[in-house]
Amino acid sequence: PEAVSGFPAPTEHTQKAYDPEADFTAKWTRADARQLQAMSDPAAASRENSMPEEYTMPTVPQDFPDMSNEEVWVWDSWTLTDGTSAQPSFKGWEVVFSLVADRKLGFDDRHTYAKLGYFFRKADVAERPEDGGWTYGGLVFPDGASGAIFEDQSFSHQTEWSGSTRIFDGNKLRIFYTAVAFYRNDDGSNRKPYDPRLVQSEGRLFADENGVWMTGFRDQHDMLQADGEYYQTGAQNEFFNFRDPFTFEDPAHPGKTYMVFEGNSAFARGERACTEEDMGYAPGDPHAETADEAMDKGAHFQMANVGLAVAENAALTEWRFLPPILSANCVNDQTERPQIYIKDGKYYLFTITHRGTYAAGIDGPEGVYGFVGDGIRSDFQPVNRGSGLALGSPANLNFPAGTPFAPNPDQHPGQFQAYSHYVMPDGLVQSFIDTIGTSDDFVRGGTLAPTVRLDIEGDAVTVDRSYGTNGLGEWADIPSGYAHEIAGTS
Ligand code: FRU
Ligand code: FRU
Repeated sequence: PEAVSGFPAPTEHTQKAYDPEADFTAKWTRADARQLQAMSDPAAASRENSMPEEYTMPTVPQDFPDMSNEEVWVWDSWTLTDGTSAQPSFKGWEVVFSLVADRKLGFDDRHTYAKLGYFFRKADVAERPEDGGWTYGGLVFPDGASGAIFEDQSFSHQTEWSGSTRIFDGNKLRIFYTAVAFYRNDDGSNRKPYDPRLVQSEGRLFADENGVWMTGFRDQHDMLQADGEYYQTGAQNEFFNFRDPFTFEDPAHPGKTYMVFEGNSAFARGERACTEEDMGYAPGDPHAETADEAMDKGAHFQMANVGLAVAENAALTEWRFLPPILSANCVNDQTERPQIYIKDGKYYLFTITHRGTYAAGIDGPEGVYGFVGDGIRSDFQPVNRGSGLALGSPANLNFPAGTPFAPNPDQHPGQFQAYSHYVMPDGLVQSFIDTIGTSDDFVRGGTLAPTVRLDIEGDAVTVDRSYGTNGLGEWADIPSGYAHEIAGTS
């Protein structure tokens, strides 16, 4: 790969597949991630987007409709997926699962109060209302069910974080999600580290002409807790990330079910564990830095990985960890909501990350990042000029990020317009609205953004601006009916 003037060349990645059980972890290197800055326009003025248009989600207007009729805050969302990798409708209804929280809470307080909720709407409707036409169905789990797995019941907060849902045998649902207990003092500090666990629960889905409902979900199966060998634990770092299970079958390994999830490399917080391989520079690259130079800046506090596990029983309640499939040591601290997406024989790992979780010396937009290879464990090639950026929110890397609750006056108003992008069949992408606007005029979201579409062609992933209106589709549009291309089930 050619270097952009003033920047290092990205790392060479072969895309070669390894056995899923093999001890090979692809690296999203600093040389790769510095391509983000290399493609940012240093002349982009205040409030302009500095990133290439073809990798940028079109700007979302501020006057968005709310899909829940102001009943709940809505963020991370996913569909029902079935055994043939489709997003099926169920008895004529489309169903989506979302993290929800009470609107009496501030939007930024949602993470410690999140519950799994669901929405439904009629499938095959040509003209829908602007808000997507969803009916909020309420919470998925019976009261107290997701907290029951914790031996230490003295938690201050107990919450449900992201995952995925599969339908089996007609109407059997298995929900894979993150059950979380917090043990906090009144001042918000940790009495002991929070405890996130990957959990599965089984229920049944029902529908009649009036709507959709669910039963069951009383038994909760604790699938995996971070092990400290591949996946960092709370004892190693009280701020560790371990969540967001997504299960799928790999056509190359029939009869097995795998799971990807968000983790961190299993070092103690602050350990100077980054290596020259994590840097990924070609020998003699004039813009290289050593691992020590990166760590002297503090980059080793950002140690994300994407985990892999394999199911040990048919009920998918027992799992075994495999080595991570991707690490982002000294690059970024969070590779969230990972998913495996298969198209034209290629395997894409998509994962979301924040501008604010990049390591010192690296910068890039909020959005979804993509890595392509020949199998679920590969020497993954980061898409788009070696950077990894698949679809970013508009951002100006010449100015500080600000935060969703205090946007920077010079930032593009779309910097925090969308997050938690989930890639669906045919390249459709849904996400939720966080904040739209700049310091003097911004609104918080809490509902789903317009769906957009990506053209996914090997290591080139670009926004389809012919989709919808200048690239923006309908609000909260999560259609059923695609019977191809997402890695799912059998
Ligand atoms: C920032 C964030 C999320 C994470 C949560 C943890 O919004 O880091 O990615 O789920 O806060 O509290
Ligand atoms: C993404 C995320 C997920 C997590 C959830 C918690 O937005 O950080 O990783 O499950 O939000 O609210």
